Amino acid sequence: VSGVPAPSTPTPADLVRVVALDGPAGSGKTTVARRVAAALRWRFVDTGATYRAATLAALRAGIDVQDHAALLAVVRGADIELRTDPAASGICLDGEDVSTQIRGPEVTGLVSAVSAVPAVREQLIAVQRRAMGRDGAVVEGRDIATVVAPHAAVKVYLDAEESVRSRRRAGELVTPGVSLEDLEAAVATAIATRDALDSQTNPLRVSDGAIHLDTTELSVEQVTDVVVRLARSAGVAP
Ligand code: DC
Repeated sequence: VSGVPAPSTPTPADLVRVVALDGPAGSGKTTVARRVAAALRWRFVDTGATYRAATLAALRAGIDVQDHAALLAVVRGADIELRTDPAASGICLDGEDVSTQIRGPEVTGLVSAVSAVPAVREQLIAVQRRAMGRDGAVVEGRDIATVVAPHAAVKVYLDAEESVRSRRRAGELVTPGVSLEDLEAAVATAIATRDALDSQTNPLRVSDGAIHLDTTELSVEQVTDVVVRLARSAGVAP
């Protein structure tokens, strides 16, 4: 529209200055990715947010997400843009900041179905690669090391025992009047359901060459420190 050329989409071979952080919900990857990006002064890319924004677009359009042709048309027509400053990250849909809306229960309930559609993934992976750029990005998701950026210099698979993952998620959701035990139980059920749905549609695979890091007994600071060291010793980060 404006005559400003769209930034070209980097190819996988361009995406070397990348820390790929994959893992299940509650593994700590969002918190760690943001901190590593801040430490390296690299971009922070939350790929799950693109699937959530696409889901919000489908909800707003009032379509049935099982109608894949309609879903793809909505996703193709949506302007989804990630903000990648680790201190001020977020996501815009058609120019509107929807960083909060995409965390709501309607989106969370439907995002597995949307992210299961291969043509939708293809569209959103292009958005993700443009957000990564070529100068350094810490990227969190489920298929970063295997699909989005297979040439990433650093690949880490974060995991934690399920009870710890539930506790971390519940801690993020502390609500007045609801006991932490009740929240943990609710979150454990929700995580198990979503893990099961995600693994039917888009199985998590550990990439060859990825370092498997169990964070059950580690603090956020310790995990961040390990990942920053890996990036520096790979010779790609300042
Ligand atoms: O990390 P999250 O909860 O915001 O992810 C939202 C959904 O998107 C989740 O159900 C799995 C899916 N997802 C995906 O399929 N591939 C990614 N790279 C990131 C997220």
